[in-house]
Amino acid sequence: MKDIFEAPFLKEMMKITSLMYKLGWDERNGGNISYILDENVVGEYLDLNNVIRTIPTGFDAKELTGRIFIVTGTGKYFKNVKHDPETNLGIIRIAKDGTTAELLWGYKDGGRFTSELPAHLMSHIERLKVNPENRIIMHCHPDYTLAMTQVHEADEKKITRTLWGQMTESIVVFPDGIGVLPWMVCGNNEIGRATAEKMKQYRLVIWTLHGIYGAGKDMDETFGLIETVEKAAKQYMLTAHLPKANAITDDNLRDLAKAFNLDYRKDFLD
Ligand code: 13P
Ligand code: ZN
Repeated sequence: MKDIFEAPFLKEMMKITSLMYKLGWDERNGGNISYILDENVVGEYLDLNNVIRTIPTGFDAKELTGRIFIVTGTGKYFKNVKHDPETNLGIIRIAKDGTTAELLWGYKDGGRFTSELPAHLMSHIERLKVNPENRIIMHCHPDYTLAMTQVHEADEKKITRTLWGQMTESIVVFPDGIGVLPWMVCGNNEIGRATAEKMKQYRLVIWTLHGIYGAGKDMDETFGLIETVEKAAKQYMLTAHLPKANAITDDNLRDLAKAFNLDYRKDFLD
């Protein structure tokens, strides 16, 4: 059996959580990540027949039966993952009943997966339908995106258009736009279902006055989506109160879409 601490997927989780903490996206225990792992790869590091304990998830995710995930722990700090991954992360497999998680590794202190597991697993189910390669769901609390939700109308067409208009690269990176949920209580099945509903058409979902969700096939795609939204939101927050001397027009956006052959939300332009 290979050493789990040398597993590339574990190193990826350690690297990305540290980076996100340093960027200020994940204060205290803020944020969570779930990452679908390949059973054959995990089998090189862990005995897949050795279930440490079972943890009820509180919802039915039968479509994910047998899938293995590495997931950040609830109440755990991103800044600590790198120093003690076995306490702050867990590897779980969704059991046959669809409502139980089998712990294969981690949560060493008796902990459990993120309280946002409903939003993660329900989103995975929807994103896998759109793209079977989708492996990552990432949630965090980046400053400018969050600040923007305090002052900008919580409307997905308007937020997407505002962010597309902040910098040339926005529409290139997220031509599919951004879903927006109103403020809701977090950590339950209701916000999970609402997020997953948005994930049917978006890889990005803003939770008003809370944070953002991103979905992608790998860490780079997912992180890159959130990073680009955050950069555009920063431009907005730095300039929204100032007179505009230059602005990206709808025609500019159409020209970009043509030049980059983008499958974009045409209904988000006037
Ligand atoms: P967890 O510590 O349960 O992952 O919750 C953090 C968070 O960001 C809630 O939305
Ligand atoms: Zn959160």
